Amino acid sequence: MNPQQLTTVQAVDNAFIFILGVSIFMLLLITGLMVYFVIRYSRKRYPVPLSQKDQNLWLEIVWTVIPTLLVMAMFWFGWEGFLTLQRIPDGAIQVNATARMWSWKFTYDSGKSSGKLYVPVGTPVKVKLESLDVLHAFYAPAFRVKRDVVPGMTTWVWFEAEESGSYNLFCAEYCGVGHADMITTIEAVPQAEFDQWVIFSQPPVVDGEILLDRYGCLSCHSLDGSASVGPTLQQIAGRITKVKRGAESLELRVDRDYLRRAILDPEAEIVEGFAPIMPPFAKGSLGQDLDRMLDFLMTGESIAPLDGEQIAKEQGCLGCHSIDGSALVGPSFKAIFGRITEIEGRGGITVDAAYLRRSITHPEAEIVDDYPSIMPVYDQLTEAELNALVDYLKGIK
Ligand code: CUA
Repeated sequence: MNPQQLTTVQAVDNAFIFILGVSIFMLLLITGLMVYFVIRYSRKRYPVPLSQKDQNLWLEIVWTVIPTLLVMAMFWFGWEGFLTLQRIPDGAIQVNATARMWSWKFTYDSGKSSGKLYVPVGTPVKVKLESLDVLHAFYAPAFRVKRDVVPGMTTWVWFEAEESGSYNLFCAEYCGVGHADMITTIEAVPQAEFDQWVIFSQPPVVDGEILLDRYGCLSCHSLDGSASVGPTLQQIAGRITKVKRGAESLELRVDRDYLRRAILDPEAEIVEGFAPIMPPFAKGSLGQDLDRMLDFLMTGESIAPLDGEQIAKEQGCLGCHSIDGSALVGPSFKAIFGRITEIEGRGGITVDAAYLRRSITHPEAEIVDDYPSIMPVYDQLTEAELNALVDYLKGIK
């Protein structure tokens, strides 16, 4: 048998079922014979021993050889299983898993990332495991894999889902107060669906970027976050931006419609801090190119679904902060926006968007009275994700 052909489930189950089977057989055999002999050869029935023999060579050989073979077979099943778990089959796809207190993040070669582990059915998946902080463990019982995720060290597991479905994925190493909430799922989906899921997020870079350059957009708007004549286009999708519409000043979220307006009628809404100097593009003059540029600009949004609640769940915020007013490890999110909160050594401050952002990206700088300073730093969120999260918090009444 070639261990390469086994799945991790078969590898572990073979050893487990064999050992369990032998154990049950032996239990029944030994218990049965014992009871039988106790009754059959009781002293009442045979007050005097029937035989004076104290040796039987063949019996000795049989009960030495059979158990030896059984134990060696157990070892063989275990060893083959162990090798199967170690050898990654050819054609496995790789997913990078990052564990942190107290969430999982899975990143794919396409650049897409997710809090759930999406895998295609019927394809082996190698999961590279890294920890950003403390010891965690990747545990997927349905696939019989469990491995420590060690800070400063790279470990990995592989498995293959044979049927589509949603499977539990746990952290199996106590890693602090949020350990029990470090749960997510492995979503096994048909290959076609998986391909679409992964590709959907692949930025149509060439197209849109070339067009932006061709129309001269990039001479005033950077793609790398640096300020220029106009606002940067880096991660513009979903950004909360302050604009002046006539005499009115308002905050809005950058979506497709806003970008369309900003290109076709730039004077109507001027982003705060910038001069109203962008030349308009006449309606129709861009043709289909407009949509292609909008696709490009909105890409960031499709990479990270900008649902603040989703982000809060995926990042594990809700493991420590309730939304119903109850105090957990951290202060509740219920009606947090506008609340007066006591900061250690600083006194009361009003919770606004700027404070919420600071408390996510630099949680240790301002500690709320009566709470321990244990929140991990969340500096890997994109600008758009941060905005969505703050928006979500604002909305919790
Ligand atoms: Cu991570 Cu327990």
